[in-house]
Amino acid sequence: MKLIIVNGPNLNLLGKREPEVYGNTTFEDYFTKLQFKYKQVQLEYFQSNIEGEIINKIQEVGYQYDGIILNAAAYTHTSIGIGDVVKAVEAPVVEVHISNTFKREDFRHQSFISAGAKGVILGFGLQSYDLAIQSFLG
Ligand code: DQA
Repeated sequence: MKLIIVNGPNLNLLGKREPEVYGNTTFEDYFTKLQFKYKQVQLEYFQSNIEGEIINKIQEVGYQYDGIILNAAAYTHTSIGIGDVVKAVEAPVVEVHISNTFKREDFRHQSFISAGAKGVILGFGLQSYDLAIQSFLG
């Protein structure tokens, strides 16, 4: 099973970015724990602050990998391009968010990703990624 976590803008700042919303752990530390926990999964991680790079990565892996775990961060609410590529590729995409976006500002209630996603997991902190992996393992 080959899965990739794709993180969008500002998620490279996890651990120091609004810790009251996103927690104190860096994504690199959390990712190491996930790799340890799911040794049977070939788990990769990609992060970019650039919309086109996220689209390129999803195109690149989207016909080869078994699944994509996507936190498009702020682009979730703005990017038709990322929404389109999620619909285009063969690999199922699980949309994740660390925070419960429905408890936050109205502009975070809209997602251009969800309509093309296999499912959506949000509001469980970093555990949202763990739950997304479990969804692929069945
Ligand atoms: C986020 C929620 C988005 O609204 C926000 O722009 C982010 C992170 C989350 O994981 O909770 O950057 O996707």
